[in-house]
Amino acid sequence: MTTRIRKAVIPCGGMGTRFFPATKAIPKEIMPVIDTPVLSHIVDELIAGGIDQIYIILGEGKQAIKEYFVPNPRLEKQLAHKPEVLETLRNITKNAEIRFGLQKVPRGSGDAIMCAREFTGDEPFIMANGDDLIVSDVSAAKQLCDAYAKQPALVLGVQQVPETETYKYGIVDPKSIDGRFVWCKGMVEKPKQNPPSRYAAIGRYVLTPEIYERIEQVPEVNGEVSLTDAIYAMIKDGKVYAYELEGRRYDMGDKFGALTATVDFALKRPDLKDKFAEYLKSVVNGK
Ligand code: G1P
Repeated sequence: MTTRIRKAVIPCGGMGTRFFPATKAIPKEIMPVIDTPVLSHIVDELIAGGIDQIYIILGEGKQAIKEYFVPNPRLEKQLAHKPEVLETLRNITKNAEIRFGLQKVPRGSGDAIMCAREFTGDEPFIMANGDDLIVSDVSAAKQLCDAYAKQPALVLGVQQVPETETYKYGIVDPKSIDGRFVWCKGMVEKPKQNPPSRYAAIGRYVLTPEIYERIEQVPEVNGEVSLTDAIYAMIKDGKVYAYELEGRRYDMGDKFGALTATVDFALKRPDLKDKFAEYLKSVVNGK
């Protein structure tokens, strides 16, 4: 099997209830950080990691995602007199081939990934959650691809989170740790108490084709097929490790996470940072 990863899958099925009422009309993945959808940033991260084929799995009511990524000749014609805006639009899809799948009924993350089976074939691929944004010097996707090239196996992208936050994540039970490589003996999905560590899955994975057979063996619970259960089965066979990613991760499905991303991005943008920093100072100082 090749160790070069070229493909990525982004499941965009969740309803985004934490962002209701906005997400009644706008998919959470299209909510902007200033002027660019979260998903667009994620696609850029994947491209920076060497990915050139991306499969986005849409759920019910997520057509706006397709509209964003598919070129719109009518709009481009209308903007012919504004070359800089046109350039921005054309850059959206320039460096990767983006295709779309449909999960007709929301039946869990495992079921969503099954939609990508034909697309990924017998190659390893990155799976990226559509609402986890990671900003880092080296793209998170590249960090994972490099880890995979050294140690080809299923890889969980993790970061250490405060113990009080572990209940929100899949938490790794480490067997041994070697720098950023964390060999796993188990994983607990959103532990209510006694988390086995502080290493949390942050929405980036390298999945190997074996995952599909494992998902097929996972029993459906409350109408959902869990990806974590399939990964857990592979952990038990010693086929999984976690890799501690460098970077700042934002939970864009969460109001506070989205707010911090907007502030951090604004403070880095040449066209906004000075004015915005002044404004923030005046707010903090109560003026
Ligand atoms: C999913 C995974 C969880 C992971 C999280 C990262 O949970 O099931 O293991 O820690 O993504 O964002 P969700 O956010 O879908 O509840």
